[in-house]
Amino acid sequence: MAPPPGTSKLERYNSYLRRVNTAKFMSASSKILFRATLLTTLVLILLFTLNYPPTNAHSSSSSNSHRSLLSSALYSSSSSKNSGAAWEKQVRDSAMPRKSRGMSVLVTGAAGFVGTHCSLALKKRGDGVVGLDNFNSYYDPSLKRDRQGLLARHGIIVVDGDINDGQLLIKLFDVAAFTHVLHLAAQAGVRYAMKNPQSYVASNIAGLVNLFEVAGKSVDPQPAIVWASSSSVYGLNTENPFSELHRTDQPASLYAATKKAGEEIAHTYNHIYGLSITGLRFFTVYGPWGRPDMAYFSFTKDILIGKPITVFQTQDGKEVARDFTYIDDIVKGCIGALDTAEKSTGSGGKKRGPAQLRVYNLGNTSPVPVGRLVSILEGLLGVKAKKNVVKMPRNGDVPFTHANVSLAAHDFAYRPTTDLATGLRKFVKWYVGYYGIKAPAKGGGQKQ
Ligand SMILES: NC(=O)c1ccc[n+]([C@@H]2O[C@H](COP(=O)([O-])OP(=O)(O)OC[C@H]3O[C@@H](n4cnc5c(N)ncnc54)[C@H](O)[C@@H]3O)[C@@H](O)[C@H]2O)c1
Repeated sequence: MAPPPGTSKLERYNSYLRRVNTAKFMSASSKILFRATLLTTLVLILLFTLNYPPTNAHSSSSSNSHRSLLSSALYSSSSSKNSGAAWEKQVRDSAMPRKSRGMSVLVTGAAGFVGTHCSLALKKRGDGVVGLDNFNSYYDPSLKRDRQGLLARHGIIVVDGDINDGQLLIKLFDVAAFTHVLHLAAQAGVRYAMKNPQSYVASNIAGLVNLFEVAGKSVDPQPAIVWASSSSVYGLNTENPFSELHRTDQPASLYAATKKAGEEIAHTYNHIYGLSITGLRFFTVYGPWGRPDMAYFSFTKDILIGKPITVFQTQDGKEVARDFTYIDDIVKGCIGALDTAEKSTGSGGKKRGPAQLRVYNLGNTSPVPVGRLVSILEGLLGVKAKKNVVKMPRNGDVPFTHANVSLAAHDFAYRPTTDLATGLRKFVKWYVGYYGIKAPAKGGGQKQ
């Protein structure tokens, strides 16, 4: 295009420079805009990934590692559901003993089988109780929610949270001065450890350490701790009945190994921080509100719907036997251990003197072959079981358990009083009521 008449070379040069600068400015701003958008997207993806809720409990290890990665600014239990004046009041009320010199107990795993029964028994006799549970889906969480409802009707709050959440634990101790912790939260089950080993490490090792860290270093005065170990620590021990003096260095499952590790970890925190710690080795606990993954529970379900059950035999063709212990006897043992627990001796993360460290068997002292368990259930349900008898695979189970409870009998008068037939009758009564099952059809299966 020809330059307009009268336009000097200099004006044309300036106009050219203006056009070039405008183009440069446009290009620079679109680059900045692009980078800002990219950065925002990355931050949003990061936040979403870190805060995305786990799809099931068995990703708890990954959710835990997420949490440990997060700073308190990003993940704060106090900013979520577990906060506010109303929540604190609920926790304080629930923790308040109703009798003079009553205990105030934090029960972890309170929406679990043993936790629910212990919480109810403590509350009933006037102690204060606050529960903590992560409601994971190892088995049907609606059963845990129903137990939570039962506890709520008795004035017990169960806080929805994880024992790996140190901030939440500290907050709970801030709100209520717990004198005792009954630590029952754990990944239970022997065979499941082959499917999801990390969940055992997350709850039974990392979670236990987290609880001991908070109780040993952050809380003043320190609480006394009673926690659930397991008869599985006896592993391949062949001496009978199992005594606390027998060897426990041959675990047959990862579950057993994590419980044994817990006992050693307890020794360390007792030794360094003066925590008073009592470990209880439960022997196959059963009863109303029980655990659906356990044989007596799943046998009942399957017998009623006419589904074959698998009954294990030892490798040399003998019957597998268990020292089945009724829940009320276990509850008595837990309360006996709490009542005789001495105070912890540390403060500010320092031990001030030797503290109590104990381990007890809590069993029924009379092993019953699994075949006998099945025939009692058949009688109570009025249905014949379809049995598949197979050799027990080497996946964690042991052929025989039998508790010697003389130590618990001596120290807190532990005496189991419920035989298997009586205890199973109570379980079946609860089961048919809870699941709304009508009288079993004669000779046939029952739909649930
Ligand atoms: N029932 C038995 O026969 C038996 C035998 C030996 C030992 N034990 C031990 O007794 C304790 C109670 O067993 P149970 O039969 O009531 O089992 P359960 O599974 O019914 O109860 C455990 C509860 O802990 C919760 N939990 C798990 N991990 C958690 C975590 N990281 N944070 C917060 N809550 C968590 C679960 O949601 C569950 O409600 C466990 O430590 C178990 O290992 C039980």
